[in-house]
Amino acid sequence: MSETPTITLASGSAIRAAILKAHGVDFQVAKPGVDESIIKSEAMKAGLGLEDMAMGLADAKCMAVAKTQDGFVIGADQILEFEGRAYDKPRDMAEAKARLHEMQGKTHTLINATVAARGGEIIWRNLERPSLTIRSMTSAEIDAYIEAAGDEVLLSVGAYQVETPLGASLFNAINGDWFAVQGIAVNPLLAELRRQGAFGEEWKNPQPVFAGVVGFPISHSLSPLIHNEWVRRSGVAGQYRTIEVAPGYDAFAEAMNDLRELGFAGVNVTIPHKENALRYADRASDAATTIGAANMLSFGEDGTYADNSDAAGFAQALAKSPSASHRMETAMVLGAGGGARGVIAALRSVGCKRIIIANRTREKAEALGEEFGLEVIDWSAQPSGLADCDLLVNTTSLGMTGQPALEIDLAGLPNKATVFDIVYTPLETPLLKAARARGLAVINGLEMLMHQAAPGFSAWFGNRPYRLKPQVDDDLRDLMVEALKNEKQHD
Ligand code: ATR
Repeated sequence: MSETPTITLASGSAIRAAILKAHGVDFQVAKPGVDESIIKSEAMKAGLGLEDMAMGLADAKCMAVAKTQDGFVIGADQILEFEGRAYDKPRDMAEAKARLHEMQGKTHTLINATVAARGGEIIWRNLERPSLTIRSMTSAEIDAYIEAAGDEVLLSVGAYQVETPLGASLFNAINGDWFAVQGIAVNPLLAELRRQGAFGEEWKNPQPVFAGVVGFPISHSLSPLIHNEWVRRSGVAGQYRTIEVAPGYDAFAEAMNDLRELGFAGVNVTIPHKENALRYADRASDAATTIGAANMLSFGEDGTYADNSDAAGFAQALAKSPSASHRMETAMVLGAGGGARGVIAALRSVGCKRIIIANRTREKAEALGEEFGLEVIDWSAQPSGLADCDLLVNTTSLGMTGQPALEIDLAGLPNKATVFDIVYTPLETPLLKAARARGLAVINGLEMLMHQAAPGFSAWFGNRPYRLKPQVDDDLRDLMVEALKNEKQHD
């Protein structure tokens, strides 16, 4: 017998399977072949409420498969409750339209039952009651929605597909478990399966994972906030800490040896240790080698591996910005330090053809120019170089709290250009303020910071049977903005 038991989803629903898959669960599907109408009419005869009915249906589907199937079996059911009545999936498009007509401008509830069985017995039951408010809609709007969504709407009790952008636009409010809305309460389910050893013994009593960020000074780092939020969301046992290590290679190497010994999975590395990190590692990624610095160290049995996610973080932030997700033809980079190297590597990787670099100390710009094949201009010549730029990036420390502003005349930038400042304290630097005033699209340093954090999380906390992809979303953004606001009050 294999060490980890099989997991079977007793449901033919594509969305339930997609949700489990997206959560990294290794499972098979078995359709239960249960006649739901018989169970429903029996439940009605017995005078059961809708919650009991949903649970009874989930139980029946789960048990139909669990009778003959080893390992864990998962069952689920969903009933739409609206003004005291239960609704089934619409039978045809006319009924789907009628359903939306009735429910528009009002709130309904999705009763979701999710259950798990093992050894032919139900071992766990969970009930969620998310509530959803459909906005007021005209007949024409409802017709247009049904037409655009097509007969997929017949697969859902509400005659909507909440998981698509089109379907999501029907709602004024959705309260409750988002995955239960879609058909399966995956988070409580996985928490229980983990507790039951479904993903192996290691997961029954998981060893906490430790990671952190090493730098000097380090107390103001926002990285713990990002990682610990993802730790919280994923339910992994672990913690991400700040570790202050004085400048100098010897102090750094000693600290890394200690962290390895303590069982840390890895660390992010920031100023002034990024070059030390590359030197310390036994192996390094192409990105870290090209950039000449590492912001990630992973401690493995076969030594320490250095990587650099700054370039990928910058590229991701660009890709996610509506104004900058197209191919960049020409970009100007201000500064020639470590930050500039990451940005230049990223711009090269996304196919930017022409990169112009300007730095206060021209020799440093020229050295980079030679290495990466860039055009070098004088620091004072910036405005004249802006004419063809799709993108202007500040990688200098100018504009940072306590530093002078970056003074640059943006008049020469084309209207379609984007201005990216990798500085994030303050969130809106004088450069971004000026760009916004000129009507240009802007990207702040927080976007790059959040995206560069994701590979570290995946490497250290995410390497588990139940994997959570670290998401950079508005909730995380809000958390960071709030933290930056609070920090400002201390200064
Ligand atoms: P990082 O690794 O964060 O990029 P760095 O290597 O110290 O930090 O680089 C800082 C960048 O900001 C450099 O390009 C620096 O220009 P110099 O190479 O001339 O030092 C730039 N910088 C810092 N202060 C500046 C200022 N007052 N005016 C113009 N550029 C400045």
